[in-house]
Amino acid sequence: MEDPLLDISVTPDPRSVRTVADLATRLRELKTWTGNPSFEELRRRTGVPRSTLADALRPDRRRPPSLDVVRRIVRACGVDPASAGAWEAAWRRVVGALVPVAERHHVTLLPPDVGDLPGRDLELVRLDGLAQQASGSPVVVTGAAGVGKTALVLRWAHRRRLRYPDGHLYFDLRARKGDKVAPAQVAREFLRAMGATEADLHSGDEACLARFRSTVYARRTLIVLDDAADAAQVLPLLPGGPLCSVVVTSRHRLDDLAVQAGGRLVTVGSLEPAAGESLLVTLTGADRGDPLVADVVRLCGASPLLLRAAAAWLSDRPDRSLRTLRSRLERGQHFAVLSRPDESCPVRQVFASWYGSLPERARDLVVAMAAGRRRAFAAADLWLVGRDAPHLLEQLVACHALVPVGRGRYALHELLRRYVRECVRR
Ligand SMILES: Nc1ncnc2c1ncn2[C@@H]1O[C@H](COP(=O)(O)OP(=O)(O)OP(=O)(O)O)[C@@H](O)[C@H]1O
Ligand SMILES: [Mg+2]
Repeated sequence: MEDPLLDISVTPDPRSVRTVADLATRLRELKTWTGNPSFEELRRRTGVPRSTLADALRPDRRRPPSLDVVRRIVRACGVDPASAGAWEAAWRRVVGALVPVAERHHVTLLPPDVGDLPGRDLELVRLDGLAQQASGSPVVVTGAAGVGKTALVLRWAHRRRLRYPDGHLYFDLRARKGDKVAPAQVAREFLRAMGATEADLHSGDEACLARFRSTVYARRTLIVLDDAADAAQVLPLLPGGPLCSVVVTSRHRLDDLAVQAGGRLVTVGSLEPAAGESLLVTLTGADRGDPLVADVVRLCGASPLLLRAAAAWLSDRPDRSLRTLRSRLERGQHFAVLSRPDESCPVRQVFASWYGSLPERARDLVVAMAAGRRRAFAAADLWLVGRDAPHLLEQLVACHALVPVGRGRYALHELLRRYVRECVRR
């Protein structure tokens, strides 16, 4: 008997099949479309028993028929070999959706663990606590350029990876390179890594973002979005599900994420002097307690990035010593010593991109502040810059270039000050 609900005017398309019931409906449409042969006739064409065929087409099935049965039905109904692949893909989608979450392909996109991180115990505990409480809201790890945000988050993510058995997604949003990756591109990369086919990813940006959010919504997944430029880059990627955690790093505080998505902040500052000293001792083999170590750490602003560059400068060069290094740092030659002028030098990249990412008017203000002798400025002094001074001030504080030092006073970040002074001098 004809199925009155089936439309046989167009070739049945299996691409929209998502469930067992969809698959059965589409197979019945196929049978009708091909002239509605009897089950006996189909048995003859396929070699599959009549009862198995009738069962495969029942709308109330709980499990899909085997792939072999689907292939035989499709072939027997006259589907050409070029289109048969879409039917196999439909069967795989249905089966994939039935596999319990724990048995699904586990995706790990995290870069390698960075190992021990001296001096970051408190930040690790805070990040751990917030990631557990956050329940769908992102945790934003923020701090000045090169201070160690990415290293902190990777260390934490590797330590806690077993909490997220459904996968660990990581994407470098590359704000520091100035090429702002679109959220839909990130969603596509994540979906691809989770097994979506290219055909699935052809839908529009909004559809891909929605698909990504709904895919991870109920999964215990960790999503790390490294180096975000702004909240707009992150918001469309937040699934909001209670089981997944989203950790974002940014040189900017991303206050809009707090307002729109309940984001919580972990601020990363430079290392405590003792942690900086033990890092330098470990990297260089210098004597613990050597006063030169403490001086070099202080002059490097206890920045892990500069301390690593200092250790690299010293390594395997008997003509270089902590004493020479200290005297060059005292003369304000940080970047002349610890970085190369070429683009690929990590120290130069970090500071050039930090300065370069500031709005133009804010850059003028930074240059003016770096040129002066004073370290701290009252907000009132900055009014001389123009009527937009309060706004510029906020922008500079939000990206850690200016540090509030109490009672309406602000200091330029010491390493940014040195970088700008050296650039201006050159
Ligand atoms: N606590 C630490 N101990 C030792 N090395 C560290 C520590 N934190 C970071 N580093 C090292 O310092 C360098 C800069 O760290 P990282 O890339 O994490 O900084 P970042 O804040 O993410 O920088 P950016 O703002 O450019 O993204 C890296 O080489 C990293 O391995
Ligand atoms: Mg980083």
